[in-house]
Amino acid sequence: MKVIALNASARKNGNTAILLNLVLDELKAEGIETELIQMAGTALPGCKACYKCFKKKDKHCSVETDMLNEIIDKMLAAEGILLGSPTYFSDVTANMRAFIERCGFVARANDYMFKGKVGAAVVAVRRAGAIQAFSGMNLFLHYMQMMMPGTSYWSIGVGRDIGDVLKDDEGIQTMKDLGKNMAWLMKKVYA
Ligand SMILES: Cc1cc2nc3c(=O)[nH]c(=O)nc-3n(C[C@H](O)[C@H](O)[C@H](O)COP(=O)(O)O)c2cc1C
Repeated sequence: MKVIALNASARKNGNTAILLNLVLDELKAEGIETELIQMAGTALPGCKACYKCFKKKDKHCSVETDMLNEIIDKMLAAEGILLGSPTYFSDVTANMRAFIERCGFVARANDYMFKGKVGAAVVAVRRAGAIQAFSGMNLFLHYMQMMMPGTSYWSIGVGRDIGDVLKDDEGIQTMKDLGKNMAWLMKKVYA
């Protein structure tokens, strides 16, 4: 079994990556393979509403000049999907938003191709707006008909500078519990 984690932060090894890795460490401890995909350095454009994915139904976006189709292929091959975004102006980053629009439309065009996979989301935040970002990703996972594990609070870590989230004990516990619950659910669904 494998989990693909997607980090939509502009900082490759920032707080979102730290939070995602806390979840991935728990999954690894349960024998689940993991891979972290970084979006830093890329600027994913949003959906251009060409509707070619509904015509072609080939599980890919018609825009082939960026990393979206590569991410989709990795998601298709995995049993678990973990999304991570920092809070930017009380929402997810532009890259996460573009990913949701395009990946979501391709999945809709292809009979909900991620249906039944296990999906979860984590957010890094300095102060406010994390719930909106958290909700945006969870609304996507829900619409994709993924199975969504809970955790001991909402999976949000507080911090501004890189590494600050490691001072947020409650946030750390939330990530660890999410990893354990995700592993438990994946084993129930796929073992
Ligand atoms: C463009 C931009 C917008 C931000 N907007 C918010 C915000 O609305 N609320 C907040 O609490 N923090 C905001 N932050 C701070 C980040 O959410 C915070 O530093 C987070 O830990 C960054 O995670 P990262 O290291 O993975 O990029 C913003 C940061 C940037 C660069």
